[in-house]
Amino acid sequence: MTVRHFLDVDDLSRQEVGEVLDLAERRDFPPALTGRGVVLVFEKPSARTKVSMELAVSQLGGHPMSMGGDEVGIDVREPAGDLARVLSRYCALFGARVFDHERLVRMAETATVPVINLLSDKAHPCQALADLLTVRQRFGSLEGRTLAYVGDGNNVCASLIKAAVLVGMKVRVATPPGYEPPGYGQPVADDAVFFTRDPLEAVDGVDAVYTDVWVSMGQEREVATRQAAFAGFTVDDALMERTAPGSVFLHCLPAHRGEEVTASVIDGTRSAVWQQAENRLHAQRGLMLWLMGAS
Ligand code: CP
Ligand code: NVA
Repeated sequence: MTVRHFLDVDDLSRQEVGEVLDLAERRDFPPALTGRGVVLVFEKPSARTKVSMELAVSQLGGHPMSMGGDEVGIDVREPAGDLARVLSRYCALFGARVFDHERLVRMAETATVPVINLLSDKAHPCQALADLLTVRQRFGSLEGRTLAYVGDGNNVCASLIKAAVLVGMKVRVATPPGYEPPGYGQPVADDAVFFTRDPLEAVDGVDAVYTDVWVSMGQEREVATRQAAFAGFTVDDALMERTAPGSVFLHCLPAHRGEEVTASVIDGTRSAVWQQAENRLHAQRGLMLWLMGAS
């Protein structure tokens, strides 16, 4: 049987995303990982992903082992493909947070167990699952819901767009020149994605507004350029007032108040960010259950 990996959200079909989200809502925690190891490699810092993955593995009866990028040395101590072969002998599945997405691709090529992307330069699919779960919990359904992404067309944005299109949501993306997500301006079936330079136009009448940091991990040298480029892209009360009644504010966290979002929005009544952060745990438990064959 072919091993299924989760390097980006569209590694799952629409139906499979629904199955993962349903499994995420289960609170009986089937012991799908009893006696099994799960290695998590982090080349970059993490709070939510590391804690929620370790806990989710434990809830399913498995043994999580987190390792830093330097101690593992992917493509330094040994080729990514060799490491993946070895981890496959110890683990039920394994995950990695990497600077270079191609490392994950090469690990998946030789792995004989599922590989999970815990964030790369190109994608953050575990985050996208938690985002979908949060919207579904808040609105009861996903199809037809509208979501605006305002800010950097980064890894989080790229996976979010894929996730939203997959489940039948409409996405409105506002980015400044030079910071567009992949596929910018290309037509998408059913006009599912609308691109603009104007945050006010993007958020008009939407159910959810999403943003992320302007400077992602590994881009620290670009701080000054990026802060200048993103001027006018802060999600503030004026933007939220243009959204639909009952709309929510979403952010993958960590957040920088006063940059991509004001304190009044992220700490305000429309903010769903803490529920969203909690959902990382539930979504990843659902994902691992699904990868282990639960239904
Ligand atoms: N949202 C997210 O992935 O958070 P961490 O970087 O803390 O894991
Ligand atoms: N875009 C951010 C997300 C952090 C969870 C980064 O890659 O640093």
